[in-house]
Amino acid sequence: MDRIRIVGGNKLNGSIQISGAKNAALPLMIAGLLTEETLILDNVPRLADVAQLQRILGNHGVDITSVGKRSGDREYQGQTLHISAANIIDTKAPYDLVSRMRASFWVIAPLVARMHEAQVSLPGGCAIGTRPVDLLIMALEKLGAELSIDGGYVIARAPGGLKGANIDFPKVTVSGTHVALMAATLAKGTTVITNAACEPEIVDVADCLNKMGARVSGAGTPRILVEGVSKLHGARHTVLPDRIETGTYAMAVAMTGGDVQLIGAQPQLLQSALDVLTEAGADITVNNEGIRVARNGAGIGPVKVSTAPFPGFPTDLQAQLMALMACAKGSSQITETIFENRFMHVQELARFGARISLDGETATIDGIAKLRGAPVMATDLRASVSLVIAGLAAEGETMVNRVYHLDRGFERLEEKLSACGASIQRISD
Ligand code: UD1
Repeated sequence: MDRIRIVGGNKLNGSIQISGAKNAALPLMIAGLLTEETLILDNVPRLADVAQLQRILGNHGVDITSVGKRSGDREYQGQTLHISAANIIDTKAPYDLVSRMRASFWVIAPLVARMHEAQVSLPGGCAIGTRPVDLLIMALEKLGAELSIDGGYVIARAPGGLKGANIDFPKVTVSGTHVALMAATLAKGTTVITNAACEPEIVDVADCLNKMGARVSGAGTPRILVEGVSKLHGARHTVLPDRIETGTYAMAVAMTGGDVQLIGAQPQLLQSALDVLTEAGADITVNNEGIRVARNGAGIGPVKVSTAPFPGFPTDLQAQLMALMACAKGSSQITETIFENRFMHVQELARFGARISLDGETATIDGIAKLRGAPVMATDLRASVSLVIAGLAAEGETMVNRVYHLDRGFERLEEKLSACGASIQRISD
C-alpha cells in the first residue's frame, strides 16, 4: 500500500486550486438515480470514493461517462460526469461494494422513490464511532416505505410509491437529511423535514434537484419543504468547492508559515473555521480569487473550540486543528460533539511529540515549540491529513503509512502541496 514521505520544515508559498466537494459530489451522483434522463455534473473531484460510487451505480445499470479535458480548461479542473440511469436493472447494492464507503448506502433513497424497492447492504466507511443508519430508516418509514433487515441488507419496499410526510429528526444528521430530501422529491404530496442539516452540501444537492424539476425550498435552514413531483428530468450542475479541503490547506499554512492563495475557495462555506484560524494568529484575506492565508513570524495562539453542525466548526476539520494546536503557545481545548470516538489521530500525533490528553469528548493540547517527524499510520480520512499537516511542520522525516484513506478525500494532495514548496512524495511499494 502507498506511503507518503514528508521532510518537514518548509514554509508553504504559492497557490492551490480547491477541488469540488467530495461530500456534495457523492450525493449529487446518487441523485442521478432519480431520473431516466442524463444528469451532467461538472467539477467532480478525482477521488477514490467517486470512482467507487461509479462502480456501485454501474452495478445498478447506470451509465457514467467521464469527459476528458477541453481546451481552455484550467489546471486541476475537476472532471465532468454524464450520469444516465435510463434503465435501472438491479435495485440491490451488494456488500462488497457498499461496505467500503458509507455514503453509498444513500442509494436506498432514490431507488425506493423511483423503483419502489431497494436492497442495500449496511454501510462501512471511516471507523469513527458506530455511525448507525436508524434515522435514515426512520425517514424512509415516515415516507411510507416498509423496511426490514435481513442478512446484513436493509430491504425497503413501497409498492404504491412514497407519500409526503413530516420528518422531524431528533438530532441533526447530514445523511438523514440527504436521504429524506432525495426520497421526498418523488413522493406524492408535501414533505416537511424539520431539524434538517444546514450544511452547504445539502443546499448544493437541493439546488441540483430543483434544476431536475424537484420542488424543494428552505434548504440551508432547519426546515426544508419538498412538494413531490411524479418525474424528474436531466440537468447540468457544478459541484461546489470543498470547504474541508479549503480548511485543511488553510491550517497547513497556519502551521508551517508562508502565504498561500486558495483558488476558488468560498469563505462563507467555512467562516467558523476561518474565525478560529484568525484567532490563532493566521492572516486571512478574502479576494476575487478565493481566500489567501498567511502566517509570517507570529506564533500560533491557543484556542478553545467545539465541533458542531453547520455553521459551527466542522468535525471534519477537528483532527487538522488538533495538529495545528500541537504547536500553539499555550493550552488548547477541542471538544468533539458529532462523533464519539473521533480521536484516533491523538495517539498518532503523540508520535510527533504532541502533548494531548483526553477526557471524554474533550482533548486538551499543550503546545510545544517543535514537533519531530515520525512514522505514523493513517486511520480515517480526516485524521490522515492531520498527520500530513503535522509532518509538514515537523523537524525531519515523517512517513505516513497506509494512505488509502487520503485518496478517498483529497485530490492530488502531494502535487498541490509540493507546488507550494513542501517536500512530500508518494512511495508506491
Ligand atoms: C457526513 C459527512 C462527514 C461529516 C458528517 C458530519 C458525507 C459523505 N459525510 O457524514 O464527512 O463528518 O456528515 O458533518 O457527507 N447518526 C445517527 N443515526 C443515523 C445517522 C446518523 O445516530 O441514522 C449520528 C451519527 O452517528 C453522528 C451524527 O448522527 O453521531 C451525525 O451524523 P451525520 O450527520 O449523518 O454524518 P454523515 O452523513 O455520516
